[in-house]
Amino acid sequence: MDKILVRSGNALKGKIPISGAKNSALTLLPCALLTDEPLTLRNLPRLADIDGFQHLLNQFGISTMIAGSRPEDFGRVMTLSATRLTSTVAPYELVRKMRASILVLGPMLARAGEATVSLPGGCAIGNRPIDLHLKALEAIGAEIEMAAGYVKAVAPKGRLTGGTYTFPVVSVGATENVVMAAVLANGTSEIKNAAREPEIVDLCNLLVAMGASIEGIGTSDLIIHGKDRLHGATYRVMSDRIEAGSYACAAAITGGDVELVGAKMSEMDATVEALRAAGVIVDETADGIRVAANGKLQALTLETAPYPGFATDMQAQFMAMLCMADGASVLTETIFENRYMHVSELNRMGADVETKGRTAIVRGVEKLTGAPVMATDLRASMSLVIAGLVAEGETEVSRLYHLDRGYERLEEKLQLVGADIERVGAE
Ligand code: EPZ
Repeated sequence: MDKILVRSGNALKGKIPISGAKNSALTLLPCALLTDEPLTLRNLPRLADIDGFQHLLNQFGISTMIAGSRPEDFGRVMTLSATRLTSTVAPYELVRKMRASILVLGPMLARAGEATVSLPGGCAIGNRPIDLHLKALEAIGAEIEMAAGYVKAVAPKGRLTGGTYTFPVVSVGATENVVMAAVLANGTSEIKNAAREPEIVDLCNLLVAMGASIEGIGTSDLIIHGKDRLHGATYRVMSDRIEAGSYACAAAITGGDVELVGAKMSEMDATVEALRAAGVIVDETADGIRVAANGKLQALTLETAPYPGFATDMQAQFMAMLCMADGASVLTETIFENRYMHVSELNRMGADVETKGRTAIVRGVEKLTGAPVMATDLRASMSLVIAGLVAEGETEVSRLYHLDRGYERLEEKLQLVGADIERVGAE
């Protein structure tokens, strides 16, 4: 099993290219189901989750072609063609490896009038139910039944009717599923308290490029006028605001000065605000965002919330950075019930983090010490790398499959700005 070795000492300086957004790509890929014409996605990140999703789509009979890109390039171009579907079933052995597979449910139902998807199961950060996905689809005409660990959805008379649904809590994935289903419904749908993440905006922009009619894009009240068919498109995936925020924390904790090329300030307001409150310089540049720190970081009080609030996907990375701040920070995780798996590993590196339910108290320490640590989920693993950049000695991060799901060529990007980091194979 590969490991990453990271050693302290260097302030990160230079430019990091930001890749396409994983959490946008994972909802743009299933849009290929919504048309029998080719869909070309540009700026797709090279990630394990993208490969996994491509494999899932292939088994529905969708052809996927990767346009030539040199090994040194970041990102890829993929053309997907769902001319004819050979299956409407997403099997357990594929879904269990990647819970985002549930995002084929809505578009498959819209395209084929039926869809059978294995229940995704939970993951390290929580049990991750899909009840809101199902309730939203039922509200626009789906009939849903559960059997033997599978969800079977059917559109009576072969086509969804449209309808109105108000989400009781904000759900990114459920919003994506119902939007992808509603665009081909035989009527209008209104989705209230919809998620407003930039990835939802990216999805709506792609669907409009494919001929969909959506009002209120970027707001929590979406009105979708269903169409009889959608056409193909060529579309560029937005840049990854979470990857950019992660490298911003890495630059800050090392007292560095880094330009995040391709990052967009307008998608990262809460992250930028938190960085500035911690004493980090954050400026917009012609090509992205400059992040610089030149001294002690200030402690913060942060609470995660749906967009435009502070992203739960940034919590672990900020926690690592705040381990080195002056004073005690208070973090509250309001989205997931178990997203503090990184705390015990950070404490093994000499951090002083105490959790009480959904709240974590992070008391700044003078130094961290390198140690062998284990990743448990994607963002937790990034927090350990960030801590390793300033921990005395060497930090060895194992279980890299978590990292590889969400960070394209992490060690190469950090090497670009002077980090002492390498990936080593198992002895
Ligand atoms: C998406 O997950 C992201 N994943 C997550 O990123 C992100 O943390 C999350 O949104 C919140 O921003 C992708 O986009 C692939 P939710 P999702 O539905 O859609 C509860 C990462 O690190 N809920 O907004 O699964 C749920 O349990 C990943 O990149 C229900 O109760 O998140 C959670 O407490 C991790 N019933 C809350 O809502 C449902 O049917 C928010 O979940 C659905 C969700």
